[in-house]
Amino acid sequence: MRPLKITDNIWWVGILDPQLRVFDVVMKAEHGTTYNSYLIKGEEKTALIEANKGRFSGEFIARVSEVVDPAEIDYIILNHMEPDHSGALADLMEAAPQAQLFFTRAGKSFAENVSNKLLDDANVIADGDTLDLGGRTLEFMVEPYLHWPDTMFTYLREDNILFSCDFLGAHYCDDRLFDDLLGNYDYAFQYYFTAIMRPFKSHVRRALERIDSLDVKMVCTSHGPIIRTKVAERLESYRQWSLPLEKGEKKTLAVLYVSAYGNTERMGLEIAEGAKAAGVETEIYDLGAVDMERLLNEVEKADGIAIGSCTINGDALPQTWELLSHLIHINTKGMVGGAFGSFAWSGEASLLLTERLKGLKFKVPEKPVRARLTPTPEDLANCRAFGEALAKAL
Ligand SMILES: Cc1cc2nc3c(=O)[nH]c(=O)nc-3n(C[C@H](O)[C@H](O)[C@H](O)COP(=O)(O)O)c2cc1C
Ligand SMILES: [Fe+2]
Ligand SMILES: [Fe+2]
Repeated sequence: MRPLKITDNIWWVGILDPQLRVFDVVMKAEHGTTYNSYLIKGEEKTALIEANKGRFSGEFIARVSEVVDPAEIDYIILNHMEPDHSGALADLMEAAPQAQLFFTRAGKSFAENVSNKLLDDANVIADGDTLDLGGRTLEFMVEPYLHWPDTMFTYLREDNILFSCDFLGAHYCDDRLFDDLLGNYDYAFQYYFTAIMRPFKSHVRRALERIDSLDVKMVCTSHGPIIRTKVAERLESYRQWSLPLEKGEKKTLAVLYVSAYGNTERMGLEIAEGAKAAGVETEIYDLGAVDMERLLNEVEKADGIAIGSCTINGDALPQTWELLSHLIHINTKGMVGGAFGSFAWSGEASLLLTERLKGLKFKVPEKPVRARLTPTPEDLANCRAFGEALAKAL
């Protein structure tokens, strides 16, 4: 792929990675991805935005070289220091030793840890700082936690182009690059939001408000298509997805479980009955059967959770850990939590889940409720009492 001219004196000089199927170990990338970097030639200065992934540094530097001799790059703008944006930095610095680096305060320490170099000569930018390229002005917008503490956007004022880093990106590889030239990639756009931006909803809302005050004509993201026809539509999607979910008028306990033989499930149903009897709403979810986005929405709307797993090999099942690993970015502080589960001999699952709930700052009023194999009528009565106690603590 050759560099792609985006507009007068601006080129895409990124990398296509169509074979990629899993990104950052945890994200699906069914359609591959791209690592977008951009070169801007002002009348006096040349700037490169985003340094690309380390594995591709040779190809990346070769692509840049088709537009400009790297030795003539004046500025390297690093919107974010995650290695998919910065892994090629050390090689790039060798190819462009005269170029000055620009990043946020948080970006500086990450850049030093990525390149293992002291970067005291680099430029730590403050929000609103500008950089004149001659006839073209870059404005830096510090937007932390979209999705790392170091993130910033770079805005090219004269062309109304927002270089938005991971924000509004998608893992979707198509060499036509512009959103109007390629097929529908809505699913990848939404999945990317859920996986990367959803934990940072309030930061997303802050950034959207700020973007509203600009007249953005094009969004050059760091992954996937360049957005030039659907800017308003894409922003609107983010606006909707980032709205906080309101808790209902009535208190709600979400009962979430995984169960191989139905014993833990039986316990969960009884817990829900107990909670209902105490006058609260209940929602019941089999963690193996509902997708994560839905589960997170339900937990965010609930006032408390009862989470259950049978014990398998001395542990709770991975579905429970996966859910809990996503809760860190929902404000669970003060929410009520409790754990339950069936077991045969050692029964660690609900004990471990209880500790984790406490670690997540849930209020945990009850000891876990456990049953050996098939719950007895007495076990089920304990479950009802457990549900009632959680309900009263909501
Ligand atoms: C592969 C496997 C490993 C297990 N490991 C443990 C264990 O380490 N400790 C324990 O107490 N029970 C263990 N069990 C027993 C289950 O926890 C027990 O059968 C429980 O009643 C299943 O509950 P469920 O119907 O909710 O799946 C194991 C069961 C299986 C199938
Ligand atoms: Fe990132
Ligand atoms: Fe990224």
